[in-house]
Amino acid sequence: MTKIKVKISNRPQDKYTIFIKENCRDSLPDFLKKNLSANKYAILTDSKTKKIYGDALVKFLKKNKISAELISFEQGEKSKRLTTIEKLAEEMIEKNFDRNCALIVLGGGVTGDIGGFLASVFMRGISYIQIPTTLLAMVDSCIGGKTGVDLQCGKNLIGTINQPKAIFIDINYLKTLPQNQIINGLSEIIKYGVIKDKKLFKYIEKNLEKILDKDISALQYIIEKSIKIKVKIIEKDERELNNERILLNYGHTLGHVLEKMSNYTLLHGFAISIGMVMINRIAVEKKFMKEKDAERIKTLLKKAGLPITSMKKPEAKDILSDKKRSGNFINFVFAKKIGKAIIHQEKITDLQKYR
Ligand SMILES: NC(=O)c1ccc[n+]([C@@H]2O[C@H](COP(=O)([O-])OP(=O)(O)OC[C@H]3O[C@@H](n4cnc5c(N)ncnc54)[C@H](O)[C@@H]3O)[C@@H](O)[C@H]2O)c1
Ligand SMILES: [Zn+2]
Repeated sequence: MTKIKVKISNRPQDKYTIFIKENCRDSLPDFLKKNLSANKYAILTDSKTKKIYGDALVKFLKKNKISAELISFEQGEKSKRLTTIEKLAEEMIEKNFDRNCALIVLGGGVTGDIGGFLASVFMRGISYIQIPTTLLAMVDSCIGGKTGVDLQCGKNLIGTINQPKAIFIDINYLKTLPQNQIINGLSEIIKYGVIKDKKLFKYIEKNLEKILDKDISALQYIIEKSIKIKVKIIEKDERELNNERILLNYGHTLGHVLEKMSNYTLLHGFAISIGMVMINRIAVEKKFMKEKDAERIKTLLKKAGLPITSMKKPEAKDILSDKKRSGNFINFVFAKKIGKAIIHQEKITDLQKYR
């Protein structure tokens, strides 16, 4: 078992551990009894993960003399709304959950964001742990404590920062994950390689087939590496107050626009793949980056099954509506070379070239 400790700077009381292990469910009862001792656990899943893993987890906990009950919502991004939080809170009250309960969040990034938010506000805050079941949730959304829901006018506009008490990562959950969701998560992992870790990037180049075939040891390697990179960044910059966390937005400023333009039919990882290729083209034009590095990234994304071009091009006005704008400038993250990224402030009057 690998254990990664997370310590948020300035808030030592918020430290917790990420456990990475096959069948790590087995160590859950002991962990809960020793560290949370809630009177009852609500297990949050979406409608799909409920059937595959939720019911079994409740049975398993009950067998281990832990009181647990499922609460769930319809799978998909469309559920990430305040109305879902309200419904789930009502359901918890009906099921006699009180302020001494805790939440176990079992699912992908949608479940994670909803669950973390629900834990922030139910009875003014209860403890929660994360058990991510998609590749994207394992390497990205379960780490960092960002929680929240969408508004009609945009994604993730209501939320909190709320760190879990622990994260349990069991790679076996990926066995049932559809291939396009593996590729979706892989896009973020390639991003980590480009912004911070050339060795990780090279590993993916070399072991791509194994990764796409869900080879456990290859997945374990890239998941651990990615988690370590994100943990290091959020420990220093939980709230995106300095430049560290901004680096994670590489490929995202343009990617978000494409995602929105597709009315969210394009998966997030697919959109940021195109975003990475587009921003690299500009980096080459600006002489921040060598053409051969841009080509190498594009080749890997394509081989991974990710799109690298888009019929539609982002408009300057769409880029400006992105949350990352500050005053008359917008922050863009450029790769200087594979393994190193920089932040560059662009005047909003110069945005035409980002099309
Ligand atoms: N909080 C953060 O820092 C952060 C970071 C990145 C993304 N996000 C959010 O994450 C969300 C996307 O997460 P996602 O891609 O995991 O989507 P998701 O949670 O909707 O999961 C994708 C699909 O896979 C299914 N699924 C989950 N686990 C499965 C398994 N093991 N086997 C089979 N099917 C399974 C789900 O039911 C769903 O249909 C977005 O809402 C995004 O905003 C948050
Ligand atoms: Zn992302």
